[in-house]
Amino acid sequence: MREHIERVIFSAEEIQRRVQELARQIVRDYQNGGKRDPYGRPLLVVGLLKGAMPFMADLVRALDIPLEYDFMAVSSYRNGTSPGEVRILKDLDRAIGRRDLLIVEDIVDTGHTLRHILRSLQAREPASLRVCALLDKPHRREVEVPVDYVGFVLPENVFVVGYGLDYGELYRNLPFIGVLKPEYLREGQG
Ligand code: IMP
Repeated sequence: MREHIERVIFSAEEIQRRVQELARQIVRDYQNGGKRDPYGRPLLVVGLLKGAMPFMADLVRALDIPLEYDFMAVSSYRNGTSPGEVRILKDLDRAIGRRDLLIVEDIVDTGHTLRHILRSLQAREPASLRVCALLDKPHRREVEVPVDYVGFVLPENVFVVGYGLDYGELYRNLPFIGVLKPEYLREGQG
């Protein structure tokens, strides 16, 4: 599979280093667990399937604070539907009440997916709601969304795969983030 990759943008080591840094920052911010939750319940980390899975697995293991985690899944509008049509395919297992929430996302591109998730979670009136994205493509933004923690900003308009990010469901299992060779990019996919 690695022979499909034209160039590596972030190596497995770079990603791991950055995840540890992000975790230190998050721990500092949430150290007194449930600071804002009136009942002092631990932070609830919400991973967005499927892309955030490897990042989420590494991040939560680096967060040395009490936490719970859950997952949400949304339909991808990339398969023919318009950006406005983001649907929740899997919701949180339980009602959240007034808890501190941290959304973990693989990449923020146009911002439509995140905006939809934020609206849905905000409507449940959590004590706090923050976002941690491994990658950010700020130049591609169509709607404004707050991103509190960013792993890496992509320097150019590239389509990346690996470490959870797919192209036609493939390449999520690569331990690094890279760019596909043009011959592996098929029109209408991804
Ligand atoms: P947004 O709604 O446009 O912000 O898109 C977010 C989703 O698009 C991400 O969760 C990814 O699934 C997908 N995506 C955006 N850019 C890339 C990329 O470069 N590689 C792989 N998936 C991407």
